[in-house]
Amino acid sequence: MAGKHRRHWKSTCKRLVLGVLLAGSIIFLYCLSMTQVPLSIPEIPVPYSCAHRPSQLPSKLNGNSSRESTGEMCTPKVDIMFMKTHKSASSTFLNILFRFGEKHQLKFAFPDSRNDFFYPAFFQRSHVKDYKPGMCFNIICNHMRFNGVEVAKLLPLDTAYISILRDPAELFESSFHYYGRLVPFTWKIAGDDKLAEFLRNPHYYFDPEGFNAFYLRNLLFFDFGQDNTLELEDPRVDEGIKSITERFQFFILAEHFEESLILLKDALCWEIDDLLFFKLNARKESTVSKLTPYLRARAREWNALDWKLYQHVNHTFWRKVDSYGLQRMAEDVAELKRRNAEMVATCIEGGRAVDAGSIQESVMQPWQPIGEKSIMGYNLKKNIDKAHIKLCRKMLMPEIQYLSEFGVNLWITKLWGHIRDIINW
Ligand SMILES: *[C@@H]1O[C@H](CO)[C@@H](O)[C@H](O)[C@H]1NC(C)=O
Ligand SMILES: *[C@@H]1O[C@H](CO)[C@@H](O)[C@H](O)[C@H]1NC(C)=O
Repeated sequence: MAGKHRRHWKSTCKRLVLGVLLAGSIIFLYCLSMTQVPLSIPEIPVPYSCAHRPSQLPSKLNGNSSRESTGEMCTPKVDIMFMKTHKSASSTFLNILFRFGEKHQLKFAFPDSRNDFFYPAFFQRSHVKDYKPGMCFNIICNHMRFNGVEVAKLLPLDTAYISILRDPAELFESSFHYYGRLVPFTWKIAGDDKLAEFLRNPHYYFDPEGFNAFYLRNLLFFDFGQDNTLELEDPRVDEGIKSITERFQFFILAEHFEESLILLKDALCWEIDDLLFFKLNARKESTVSKLTPYLRARAREWNALDWKLYQHVNHTFWRKVDSYGLQRMAEDVAELKRRNAEMVATCIEGGRAVDAGSIQESVMQPWQPIGEKSIMGYNLKKNIDKAHIKLCRKMLMPEIQYLSEFGVNLWITKLWGHIRDIINW
């Protein structure tokens, strides 16, 4: 009896030690990869365009270029910077960009060894896979902490800067759920509803110096390379918002995803086929905390910088919709929804997303947050006709697997994934 007990104890010990060792070496490797020495890279001016057939004139990107209605020919815009913000439906747009890039055989500036540009460190050109000064890149779209100066040294001058925003209250809820466990100061929050408890008294729990603290306050502002801990009254807040909205010509609003895509298509001379999408990386309904009006207000107050940015962008967004034409917008959105519903019927088994446990092919498994499997995925329908099978696969493919298909080396991300499998975390 005692022997059995001891053996059991020994094997638990062994597993523990193994786990600690593995975790230790991962953290070591992670730190090693984070402390890249910035190389001094020679400065070669970027070209005007990296499109195969650059449009002759610097196209007027802001506002009001409804080429279709005037019957004017246009060339699709292919030089694109997409600032992929966290927890904002950005994976769905990423998938659109991946397919657009393949269709036009564009050159992506991909990260190396992981699926982001060493976030939360500021972006550096040297993070780009196979980067050499003077190279032409069309698209950059993986997670980064934005660094306008370095990005401008990488991409051609005619690049369209696009990003995506989501209501900061919902974004905060999502970030708290997804990253909360990676932020040590949340461990001491008592009770079942940690989110509500945190929002009741954020200043008590929040430690601006804490590890990974940025995930839990003004994450949008942080992603755009700004200081996310400023007080709302600080003049640097408005300066930050100004620099963001001057740099980025287009914002997708997650709450109005279809409308945003239609505006983009109009401004960038894309086709409706380019806009087809399935909602990727969505969370199981039961794991989403429904914010009460009180908690929503608290969350917006706590993320006041993001809320100010969001309102500013929202205002401009609806002005653009107005000048596009409300009726025309409604028709185009209906058409896009109809086309997407067609694709659902063609591609998706059962017509909807399912729990991770019910996904049959591992290539369709989405990446999960630490400690649970709340992100849903899809099963591909059987017997999809030849004309659609490739498109269906690509539309459903999660980010990591798609990057692998592009030949991106993801050893850090993958190793981390294996370790989580082993220790079942
Ligand atoms: C948009 O186009 C219309 C008609 O060409 C013009 O009257 C209007 O001033 C333009 N608006 C902007 C913001 O450029
Ligand atoms: C966004 O702008 C529209 C139109 O101005 C307004 O009706 C709506 O309330 C705004 N939304 C937010 C979240 O501010």
